[in-house]
Amino acid sequence: MTAAATASTAEELPAPKSFYDVPGWFYNTDVVLFDWFLKRQETEDIHGDLLEMGAYMGKSAILMRAYLRDDETFTVCDLFDSDAPDEHNEREMSGSYSTLTRRSFEANFLSFHDELPRVIQAPTSVVPEEVKADSCRFVHVDASHLYEHVHPDIGNAREALSGDGLVVLDDYRSSHTPGVACATWQAVLEGGLKPICVSSNKFYGTWGDPKPVQDRLHAELKERGNFWLQWQEVAGHRMLLVGGRKATPPKLPVSKHKATADTAADGAAAQAPKSGQASQSKAAAKPAPAPRRPRSRLRKVAIDVLPPVVTRAVVRARKRGR
Ligand SMILES: C[S@@+](CC[C@H](N)C(=O)[O-])C[C@H]1O[C@@H](n2cnc3c(N)ncnc32)[C@H](O)[C@@H]1O
Repeated sequence: MTAAATASTAEELPAPKSFYDVPGWFYNTDVVLFDWFLKRQETEDIHGDLLEMGAYMGKSAILMRAYLRDDETFTVCDLFDSDAPDEHNEREMSGSYSTLTRRSFEANFLSFHDELPRVIQAPTSVVPEEVKADSCRFVHVDASHLYEHVHPDIGNAREALSGDGLVVLDDYRSSHTPGVACATWQAVLEGGLKPICVSSNKFYGTWGDPKPVQDRLHAELKERGNFWLQWQEVAGHRMLLVGGRKATPPKLPVSKHKATADTAADGAAAQAPKSGQASQSKAAAKPAPAPRRPRSRLRKVAIDVLPPVVTRAVVRARKRGR
C-alpha cells in the first residue's frame, strides 16, 4: 500500500494545482539556480544522489525530484510532526512550521511525482547514519536555522557529497537567522567550503573547484540577459552575486490536479459574469496556521529513544485515542 493510500480521510490534504500553490520559501532566483546547477550535472554526466535536509511542504523537494535519474536516490530528512530534539529547535518549529504534517508533505509531493522520495522523519543529526559518505552530487541544507544545528548539518553535507558536489545553504544572510550566517562563513573560513554564487536567500558552494562552474554560470546567465550579476571577493573568495527575480523560470513540474483545475476553470469561465472577481491569491491558498501542540513527556522520551517508524505509530495511536 502506498503512503498516500494509508491517509485517513479525516484530515483535508493539500491538492496543489500548480507548483506555485505549494507553500514554502523558494523564490524565483533560486528556482532558476537549482535548475541551472542540476541540469549542468546532467549535461556533464555527473552522477550521484540528492539530499534535502528540511523539506517542509515539499516545494524545493518537488523541483529537485524532477532532476533525479533512475539509478539515483533522493532522500529528504525532516522532523515533520515529530518532536524536535531540543527546546530551541522546538520553539523554532512551533513558531514557523506549526501546520506541517508529514502527510501534507506527501500529498503535495505525490501531486507532482508518482513516488515519494526516501523520507527520514527524524532530526538531521541522523543523516550520517542514513546517507552514505561521498554518495551525493547535490545537498540542500534547509532544516533548523539555529547555529547548533546548521553547523553539523554543513559538516554532514560535506561528508555526504562527492568531491565536486554542490551544497546549497538556505537563509545564510537573513536578519532572523544569524546562526546560519555564522555557520556558513565559518565553513568558508575554517572548513574549506568555497562559494560559487549567492542569491538573496541561498548560498551555493562546493568543497571541489568552484572556478569552472562559476565561469560557466556567469557566462550563461549573462547570455540569458535578465539577471543582475556582480562579482565580489570576500576574504579572498570569489563569488558571483545573482539576482533573478524577473528571470524566466524553468519548466516546472506539472501537478496531476492541473487537469481538474483546467476543467473547473473552463466551466467557471463559461458561467462567470464578465466582471468576474480576481483569482485567489497565493497567500490565501496557504493553510491557516494552527498552534503546534505542546509535547507530552511521553512523546518527548519516545522521539529521543525510538526509531521514527515506531514513534509515528505511537503518535498515531495517541491521536486515535484523543
Ligand atoms: C524552511 S523549512 C524547509 C523549506 C523547504 N526546503 C522549501 O523550500 O519549501 C525548514 C524545515 O526544517 C524542518 N526542521 C527543523 N528543524 C529540524 C531538525 N532539527 N531536523 C530535521 N528537520 C528540521 C522543519 O520541520 C521544516 O519543515
